[in-house]
Amino acid sequence: MKRMKSYDVPHKGLRNALSQMQLLAGKTDYANQNEVEQLYKLGQDVFKILTIHATDENEITLAELEERCTGCSQHDMEDHEQIHLTQDKLEKFLANIYNNSKAGQNVIEDGEEFYLAFSEFYGTYLEHTAEEERVTQPMLWKYFTDEELASHRGKIMAKNPPQTLLIWFRFVIPAQSHKERVGLLTGFKKMAPEPFFNEGMQVIRQVLTEREFDELDKALA
Ligand SMILES: [Fe+2]
Repeated sequence: MKRMKSYDVPHKGLRNALSQMQLLAGKTDYANQNEVEQLYKLGQDVFKILTIHATDENEITLAELEERCTGCSQHDMEDHEQIHLTQDKLEKFLANIYNNSKAGQNVIEDGEEFYLAFSEFYGTYLEHTAEEERVTQPMLWKYFTDEELASHRGKIMAKNPPQTLLIWFRFVIPAQSHKERVGLLTGFKKMAPEPFFNEGMQVIRQVLTEREFDELDKALA
């Protein structure tokens, strides 16, 4: 029987977010204040969901794994610490670039350095997530039933404020197939109050093509 994949939904979203960030960091004209601001704003959202995701993994998935298998969470926890340190530097660097650009300073060289440093971070992060799916996921399957794995996801959803879910939607929903989107959002429609469901759909409308959104909307009706 096909088992539940704990990482599938968030990791597809994170890979989409990171790729958007990498692309924008490359095509930004660092002499243009508006373009630097766009990059800074995207960075704020991307770094935010990266931090939330690592915290969710540490506090729920890995904490529960550690309870059943001592030492099994250590490798990923250490990875998260390393990633956090690099990410923190990048976040501060980007904030600096943004502030200096706003103050009228020349940030072209810093922008070029940010692009390169981000690509190193991106590479590390991709390896980390692939390892979680190849190594940690089989451990999770060994120690938990699919119901328990689903309950981890439920706990993660419950601990984050609703507005965080909307940031996730921007990156997760376009990264899924139509069938996967329908599956996720059918659950969301059942659980969410109608105004929040509609707010979610407005966010999603902006990140799908017109055709993708119409198909989704029809399937959810
Ligand atoms: Fe992770």
